[in-house]
Amino acid sequence: MFEKNKLKNYGLGLGLRTAIQKETLNYIKAETAESCIQWLEIVAENYIYKPKAQLEILKEFMDRGKPIIPHSVNLSIGTAYKSSPRESYDRRLLDGLKDLFKLIQPPWFSDHVSCTRINGFYLQELIPVPFIKESVDTVVDNIKFLEDEFQLPFLIENPSYYSTLIKPEMTESEFLNEILEKADCGLLLDVNNVYVNALNHSYNAMEFLNSLDLSRTVQVHIAGHLEDYQAHLSKRHLKILDTHGEVIKEEVFALFKYLLEKTEVKAVLLERDSNFPEFSNIISELAHVKQLMKESSLIVNN
Ligand SMILES: [Fe+2]
Repeated sequence: MFEKNKLKNYGLGLGLRTAIQKETLNYIKAETAESCIQWLEIVAENYIYKPKAQLEILKEFMDRGKPIIPHSVNLSIGTAYKSSPRESYDRRLLDGLKDLFKLIQPPWFSDHVSCTRINGFYLQELIPVPFIKESVDTVVDNIKFLEDEFQLPFLIENPSYYSTLIKPEMTESEFLNEILEKADCGLLLDVNNVYVNALNHSYNAMEFLNSLDLSRTVQVHIAGHLEDYQAHLSKRHLKILDTHGEVIKEEVFALFKYLLEKTEVKAVLLERDSNFPEFSNIISELAHVKQLMKESSLIVNN
């Protein structure tokens, strides 16, 4: 049973990425009471089946009091299987994740509501799942299997998407709400994805938040996006692209503030994946996020 109130408050974190790993560790080694990094998120699949020496870095962060929380990209909860998830899931992936989780002892795990594996092949892309009842059942079955397998709470992340593939039977928020309720799981709300989708699919981002079951929000992602993509894709009517490679826009911060007014969250993550600036700029952005968290009474323990 999903019990948000039993989950600890982890405060503010940063995505641990190879390009900024050294700076992140140096920052934590020299940290003061004003530290902006209380935990780290890793892309879980990047840390499985690695030699022990390559996992030492995770232990170093943990030894310095920084929990590591995994975020997956290949659990493919949108994939429909001919037989049960238990018989069809990639056992090598699951066993690799289990070994990793033994090491980092995470409070939860997560992945996007998307499809990344078809007929045993990984697509290396987050393919959107159609907003139809059949998809709800598929996603719910997969989540229930994964929670049973890992004995951990699972969070679904709302992904960014650029097409809806087939005619939807419900709205995006109805779709996510049904999954949350039927799977009895938590939500990893990416506020940048909300903003990107709202602009690209012409709906109001705040109304979208109002229509979501935000009480299940455990974790938040906040990130930047690319706005001048329209020049390249003008015929496809796309306006912005979810890149995690730009500074966070004011409109996304506004959505984040709005969210914090509406519900308590247990962890907030700055998700920077590409086009890395000077590390001091990342820290400045984190400091701004921390300030917003303080203003909304979300406790930030140092
Ligand atoms: Fe995200």
